[in-house]
Amino acid sequence: MKVFATSQLPGDALARLAQHCELDTWESSGPVPADALHERLQGCDGLLCLLTNCVDQALLDACPALRAVSSMSVGVDHVDVDALTARGIPLGNTPGVLVDTTADLTLGLLLAAARRIPEADRFVRTGRWDSASPWHPDMFVGRDLSGATLGIVGLGAIGQAVARRAVGFGMRLIGWSRTSREVEGVEPVSFDTLLASADFISVNVALTADTRNLLDRAAIARMKPGAVLVNTARGGIVDEQALADALRSGSLFAAGVDVFGREPVEADNPLLDLPNVVLAPHIGSASQRTRERMAALAADNLIAALAGKQMPHCVNPEVYEAP
Ligand code: GLV
Repeated sequence: MKVFATSQLPGDALARLAQHCELDTWESSGPVPADALHERLQGCDGLLCLLTNCVDQALLDACPALRAVSSMSVGVDHVDVDALTARGIPLGNTPGVLVDTTADLTLGLLLAAARRIPEADRFVRTGRWDSASPWHPDMFVGRDLSGATLGIVGLGAIGQAVARRAVGFGMRLIGWSRTSREVEGVEPVSFDTLLASADFISVNVALTADTRNLLDRAAIARMKPGAVLVNTARGGIVDEQALADALRSGSLFAAGVDVFGREPVEADNPLLDLPNVVLAPHIGSASQRTRERMAALAADNLIAALAGKQMPHCVNPEVYEAP
């Protein structure tokens, strides 16, 4: 059985996978171009991919031998899940293991944006903290988390982990989910109420057809004046131009953004030249331990599929139902 892995992975995941198949791994540290992916996947039974690899209808049409796909990610918006399901191909993902790591980054961005930490760092680093600009009561004044209301958009595992952390900072919690969920300590509210009453908003929903552009220009305009927005979910959920306009006009105080509509960001991304945005290159799950666990789960999904078993973490388990 043949498997193509689009990247080297942390830990021993690929070494374990190689014990179960003939494993071909993309050798370069750069990303695999789409045409090379088509070519290398020919005749393969399995694909182990990253969230940067587009797995669409055209790829599936070109690779009829494919019978299992495993992505080292929890989000699967880079995969045409319906097309896989229609072909009976299971899709594996890596939920659970990245929850705490992503929630940590969310709080990090919340604090960094609210207290202007990167802006202050740039000020000191570039020698602007000098005798002409000594300590002053107005210097780098930010927003307090304690006593403020945090609105969590999406109360799945990551949203709940954000809530647990925010309690420790003395925040009041309100939340909205597409499927109504009871989460202890989080008052469920409508999306409109959340927009209007949250001092901080954390976006923690998956990107789907329903959530694409959820925070569009109209939604951003309904946010509380001076609010802070943090997005560690997916870029397509927030209208970046509308966010940049609101940050520039001062109607929003600051933002923390880990995910973008187009990644890597393009030089003309409207968020890049705003001082009140803290930016990160999609590093929500980027800790050594978590990346090793994600790689291990991604390998486990594929090893199960190659053995004719159900993937332990399958996005489309309906493929296992008898026809
Ligand atoms: C990261 O964004 C993931 O989906 O794993």
